[in-house]
Amino acid sequence: MRRAKLTIIGAGNVGATCAHWAASKELADIVLVDIVDGMPQGKALDLFQSSPVEGFDCKLTGTTDYADTANSDVIIITSGIPRKPGMSRDDLLNTNVKIVAEVTKKAVAASPNAVLIVVSNPLDAMVYTAAKVSGFPPSRVLGQAGVLDAARYRAFIAAEVGCSVEDVNALLLGGHGDDMVPLPRYTTICGVPVTQFMSAGKLDEIVKRTRNGGAEIVNLLKTGSAYYAPASSSVAMAESIIRDKKRVLACAAYCGKEYGVGGYYVGVPCILGKGGMEKIIEVDLDAREREMFNTSVLHVKELSAAAEKVLATL
Ligand code: NAI
Ligand code: 2OP
Repeated sequence: MRRAKLTIIGAGNVGATCAHWAASKELADIVLVDIVDGMPQGKALDLFQSSPVEGFDCKLTGTTDYADTANSDVIIITSGIPRKPGMSRDDLLNTNVKIVAEVTKKAVAASPNAVLIVVSNPLDAMVYTAAKVSGFPPSRVLGQAGVLDAARYRAFIAAEVGCSVEDVNALLLGGHGDDMVPLPRYTTICGVPVTQFMSAGKLDEIVKRTRNGGAEIVNLLKTGSAYYAPASSSVAMAESIIRDKKRVLACAAYCGKEYGVGGYYVGVPCILGKGGMEKIIEVDLDAREREMFNTSVLHVKELSAAAEKVLATL
């Protein structure tokens, strides 16, 4: 049986760590691409040499040549600059639109049937860019943010309650910015509402820390941004698609009528399977949640318009 093929573009911190998580799950044959010659080859070879110790069998290729990526099933795009302390994700827009547009064009020419998972920031503008440049149907263009944001939220809740992270279930909507929308009303520990485990004040603190989760790590690292959890989240999406698991994961997905968005890529819960994004799940929002969601969508629209302006100059 043909093993699935996963291409990861950008072999920096997030990209190389995606390769690591994916290889350890024996998810696919993996192609790691970067613009810096030697670096993706070196990382792929190093990872391959760990396979007898770890016991995974998959082919690992490092390259600067998109011919090696031909007929990939899933492509994770991580190329672009990360932020440094004092920068917001939005400060990366001009540089990263150009990078993401270029790599998308080359990648989709080699793999016209792939599902794209965009990770580069500002995420909502980069998904818009990849969708525009690829011309792919909405089911095959996704952005990774919600899995990471929900993972941070779940991890902080588990640490506060003193329970396993596996038993915390949470939903998060909106863009990958400070206005992301965690939904305490839909947060449970093994089905029991989280509000039974902590005060409203404590939960508010956790929501705030989740919103600031990326910046907290940037301020600690000082030279770049988070990569273990972002990569693990991206690979969870790829795994659900490649193994047709139909997991329900929060992803930046194209919302037409859904949630009344009107044609933008926004973070919503989706079923991910062989076809990519197979269904958007709509949950009821109360007035306050709806207001926060609308604010977040407004920001996504502004970012998409800014990306459009840069794309028009290319
Ligand atoms: P990094 O600097 O470690 O790696 C980026 C890689 O992209 C570098 O190796 C660079 O050579 C490569 N690259 C640049 N231009 C390229 C091109 N034209 N073709 C191929 N490769 C190219 O950065 P890191 O930490 O891996 O972050 C990557 C991106 O992911 C950043 O934009 C960051 O903000 C974003 N990010 C997004 C997250 C999310 O949840 N959506 C979470 C974490 C990071
Ligand atoms: C994060 O949230 C930088 O978007 C990245 O860690």
